[in-house]
Amino acid sequence: MSSKVMKLNNGREIPIIGLGTYKSPAGEVERAVRDAIDAGYRHFDCAWLYGNESEIGDALSEKIKNGSVKREDLFITSKLWCNYHKKELVVPMIKETLANLKLDYIDLYLIHWPFGFKEDAGMWPMGEDSAYSDVDYLETWEGMEECVKLGLAKSIGVSNFNSQQLTRLLEKCKIKPVVNQIEVNPNINQKKMIKFCADRDIVVTGYCPMGRVENDGIPGFPTPTIKDPKVIEMAEKYEKTPGQIILNYLVSLGIAVVPKSVTRTRIIENIDIFDFKLDDEDTKYLDSCNKNQRICFFECFKTHPHFPFNIEY
Ligand SMILES: NC(=O)c1ccc[n+]([C@@H]2O[C@H](COP(=O)([O-])OP(=O)(O)OC[C@H]3O[C@@H](n4cnc5c(N)ncnc54)[C@H](OP(=O)(O)O)[C@@H]3O)[C@@H](O)[C@H]2O)c1
Repeated sequence: MSSKVMKLNNGREIPIIGLGTYKSPAGEVERAVRDAIDAGYRHFDCAWLYGNESEIGDALSEKIKNGSVKREDLFITSKLWCNYHKKELVVPMIKETLANLKLDYIDLYLIHWPFGFKEDAGMWPMGEDSAYSDVDYLETWEGMEECVKLGLAKSIGVSNFNSQQLTRLLEKCKIKPVVNQIEVNPNINQKKMIKFCADRDIVVTGYCPMGRVENDGIPGFPTPTIKDPKVIEMAEKYEKTPGQIILNYLVSLGIAVVPKSVTRTRIIENIDIFDFKLDDEDTKYLDSCNKNQRICFFECFKTHPHFPFNIEY
């Protein structure tokens, strides 16, 4: 099985299915990456924040070295964390990521969130307004552009940006963002943001596509649609799994997705979603699940001047 691709606005291609790696623990993520390459994945969604880029890099170099995959066929994404938004910190941070991943370049580098924290603050300074940095993401973007000029990233983009922030960036940038990575699952289908991005030739990558199943039952988190009895019925009807129903629906919205799994069987099933089409009634049902409920809301940062979720999209 291999993933279909989408064209980026700079002519490059992003595989529609990528492997998410947040909370994929060291000791398991190496095998997950190797299993994913064997299953046909070429797109890996990483981040400095996740603390596991070194293990991912070990698995990637092993697979490149033994000839299972060529570097040029892989699409590796990483993200700049919020403490490092000053322009002069961006190149050193991508170099740290490259050293961990054991790569000379990555395919896509994203600003993880539009809001920044001071360099010496914690990584999650919740409730500490004094930890906010006033660096504008437009300044950060200049550092991102430098990464492309130096050949350290083939493409650059953003994550968790709202429509106003994207508009502001598009007015000022020299290199256009190719991707906005945002939360997309049936509880928050992001149709307006997907259209907004498509109109500007920006690809949306959807994160938390499975509704972060492991958070099910934790107060404040929406119930993942994968658990919905109607979705389980659909899975029987199409002879697929509930996860495949959800991913097929999300891809039909015109986006790329990065489901995380460290379970071999799920890694395999999550890329095997291109051989069926949901009928109108089932699509309508999944559309009706939209409640604009986020898993990654970070309300604790809502007083930050660059908090993205104070407007509709
Ligand atoms: N840009 C951002 O701010 C941002 C924010 C959040 C996430 N992300 C990215 O998006 C990726 C995905 O999001 P996420 O990890 O938060 O959540 P997710 O992919 O929605 O859910 C992951 C959970 O679903 C389980 N799972 C995976 N496939 C399954 C299947 N077919 N059936 C049943 N359960 C399944 C996984 O279990 P097992 O692993 O145990 O199999 C894991 O518990 C992240 O890993 C990260 O790369 C980006």
